[in-house]
Order: sequence, then C-alpha cells, then structure tokens
Amino acid sequence: MSQLKLMNVVGARPQIIKASAISRAIRNNFSEKFQEITLHTGQHYDKELSDIFFEELEIHRPDYNIGVGSASHGKQTAMMITGIEEVLLKEKPCCVLLYGDTNSTLAGAIAASKQHFPVIHIEAGLRSFNKTMPEEINRIMSDHASTLLFAPTSAAFKNLMNEGFRPENSPPYSINNPKIYLTGDIMYDNSLFFAELAEKKKGELLDSLSVERNNFVLVTIHRDINTDNIERLKLILSTLMQLAKESSVNLVMPLHPRTTNSLKANLPELYDDLLKCSLLKLIPPVSFLEMTLLEKTCRFIITDSGGVQKESHFFKKPCMVLRKETEWIELVKNGTTKLVDADPEKIKYEFFSLLNPHADFEYPSFYGDGKTAEFILREILYFLGEA
Ligand code: UD1
Ligand code: UDP
Repeated sequence: MSQLKLMNVVGARPQIIKASAISRAIRNNFSEKFQEITLHTGQHYDKELSDIFFEELEIHRPDYNIGVGSASHGKQTAMMITGIEEVLLKEKPCCVLLYGDTNSTLAGAIAASKQHFPVIHIEAGLRSFNKTMPEEINRIMSDHASTLLFAPTSAAFKNLMNEGFRPENSPPYSINNPKIYLTGDIMYDNSLFFAELAEKKKGELLDSLSVERNNFVLVTIHRDINTDNIERLKLILSTLMQLAKESSVNLVMPLHPRTTNSLKANLPELYDDLLKCSLLKLIPPVSFLEMTLLEKTCRFIITDSGGVQKESHFFKKPCMVLRKETEWIELVKNGTTKLVDADPEKIKYEFFSLLNPHADFEYPSFYGDGKTAEFILREILYFLGEA
C-alpha cells in the first residue's frame, strides 16, 4: 500500500505544539500508513515562538514555510490562502489537518475547502459566543468548511450540534456530509508525555529564576483585548505588580512579544517599573518543556491563553483567566478556573483566595486518556478507506 499524504497547516506557537502530538503518534504507530507533510505559514517567526518547538518536541520539520509574517488580519490571511493553495495544488494531499483557531487555521480551511481537499479540524466546536474575538470567527468558519471535526469536550460537541452538525451522519463523509467526533484533547497527550521530561531536562530553570517550587505564580498575557487595549493592559499589570508586593510572592511572566511590544510602545514607565520590581520575573517566551515545568511547579496560574488554561487543569493548578468568557466552560463550572476579566477587584480577591491552600479542589478528567492523537489518526484511516 502506498502511504497516504497528510498535510498539516501550522503557523502559531500552540499549533506547532498541537501538531507534535499527531507527529509523534504517526511516528510511533502509523509510520507505514501516513506520509506527513507540514506547511508553516510563518505567522509566528521568532525563534522562541516557532523553531524552538520543532527542535525540542522533535516534530516533523516544515516542508514549506510560506513566510507571511505579521500583518493586518485581511492581509495576513489573504497571503496565507494564496501560499497554501499553491502548495496544495502541488502536493495534492489526501486531507489537510488544521489545529485550533488562528488565522493560519482559517486560511487553511478556505484554501483547502475551495480546492476540494477534505479538511480535518482538530479542536473543533469551541465557542466563546463572542464574535468580536478574531478566533471566534476563525473557529466558526473553519468548522463549517470541514469534513471531519474532532471536538475535544462535550460542550464543543454540543456547540456543533447546535449549529446543525449531525452526529448520526454515516459514511462516505464529505464537506456536505461531515462527521463530528467527541475526542479528548491532543494537548493533554502532550502534557502527559512531556511532564517528566520537563523535570529531567529543565529542572534548573527555577534556580535560574530564583523562585521556589510551589511558591510562585505563573502569568501569561497575549490576547489582543489585553495587549491592544492599553487601559486593560495597564490595569492588569499594575494590579499584578501591586499584588506581588503586598504578598511578597514572585510572579513569573514569560511574555509574548506582542505584550512586550505594546508595553514598550504605550506604557514605557510602567514597563520600567515592572522590570525594576524584583518579585516580577519578566522573561521572553519559554520553550514547551520549560513552560510545562513552570506549570507543574507553580502555585497557581493567571492567563488569557486557551492552552495554558487547560494545562493548569492537567497539572491540577487553579487558574485565573483575564477574560470575560472562556471556551473551556467545564473548568469554570468545576470552580478551578475563575474569570476575572481585567477587573482589579476580582483579580485581587481571587489572588488572595488562591494563595491559600485549596485541598478541596478536584480536577476531573475532562480531556480524554492521553491517546487522542491515535484516535484521530485511526478515524482518518477509516475515512480514507484504509483501515
Ligand atoms: C495568534 C493567534 C491567537 C493565538 C496566538 C498564540 C490569530 C488571530 N491570533 O495571536 O489566537 O492565541 O497566536 O500565541 O491568529 N509577533 C512577533 N513575533 C512573532 C509573531 C508575532 O513579534 O514571531 C508580534 C508582532 O508584533 C505581531 C503580533 O505579535 O503583530 C501579533 O502576532 P499575530 O500572529 O498576529 O497574533 P498573536 O497575538 O500571536
Ligand atoms: N507556551 C510555551 N511557552 C510560553 C507560553 C506558552 O511553550 O512562553 C505554550 C503553552 O504551554 C501552551 C501553548 O503555548 O501549550 C499556548 O499557546 P498560547 O498561549 O500562545 O496560545 P493559545 O493557546 O491561547 O491559543
């Protein structure tokens, strides 16, 4: 049997990390069945947002990098569509794997569906019900251009049903007769796989940051609402600095370049104060193994990231989310994720309550068994008639 050609489209940090779960599962269990090719859109291009993950996670390297870089939504997405289409027509893959909800996901969905390549959407069905979020538009459009949709949670699965997707559809599947699955989350596959390795390989990181195990708070901020809205950025960071001082607890903050750029350009004085505050560890983005170690060893997490929210749950850490809403509603219902928006009072209240031990928190297994990538690949084989 000749190998089936799968094409991954990635572009942003979390997609490279997610694709590593699929890449690993192909290498370990499906290497005879699938030939994997990867197209990198170039949406993320700094080493610490891109190359570092290919190196560290031993992922199939991009066969193509169409190098679009940063631009406005329309321009960036248009350049991606053009570049992806060219590669699709040359490579003619059996199907196209898309991850998450970035502009690279949307561009992949448009390019592939219009040229009649089946789209497989991994992390389908998530909704914030806030269409002012660029990611919400990307999710809805990508789901509706897909043939196989892998929803990581029952809430995501229900969202798809509410939008007219029918679980009872039977093969042959197509864009007009799509198949929806309730799977686990491939990010959980990764966190399970890399948790021990992170301790072994990156254990010295805590010393180099001068922080103690279980005695620091991990913070990430990168969403457009929190970085482009200067008032929100100022409120969040000045509140966090004040809380670090009041509590004498260290905050470790690997900052996305978007956040650092906005601080430097719009809030230079605050940026200077943050750098001078010895309790705050403002550092460049870290590798996935370093991030995993920080998540495992922190006291709790403050973030606006989708992925980091879930990882907080994987490592049984409570989490404050700097947004009004989240797609991962099971975490909020569970009481371990608190939505604090950019509200100083809510941030303060939750900060001090999370500093106290919460022996009563429980972390049920919402995200599968750590073998979601294998499940997805098996279903792709059925779909392609090769199982
Ligand atoms: C993108 C995704 C977001 C995802 C995030 C993951 C969209 C609309 N947004 O947001 O859903 O959560 O990735 O990290 O797709 N920049 C650099 N170096 C880089 C890349 C970006 O400095 O390598 C800076 C540029 O100033 C750029 C800004 O970050 O304008 C935003 O980059 P962009 O890729 O547009 O969005 P993200 O905020 O990274
Ligand atoms: N991450 C990382 N280094 C960092 C910050 C995040 O490796 O400095 C990882 C994190 O562990 C998670 C993913 O990046 O797996 C989340 O990506 P991000 O927060 O950029 O995007 P989102 O998940 O919100 O789309």
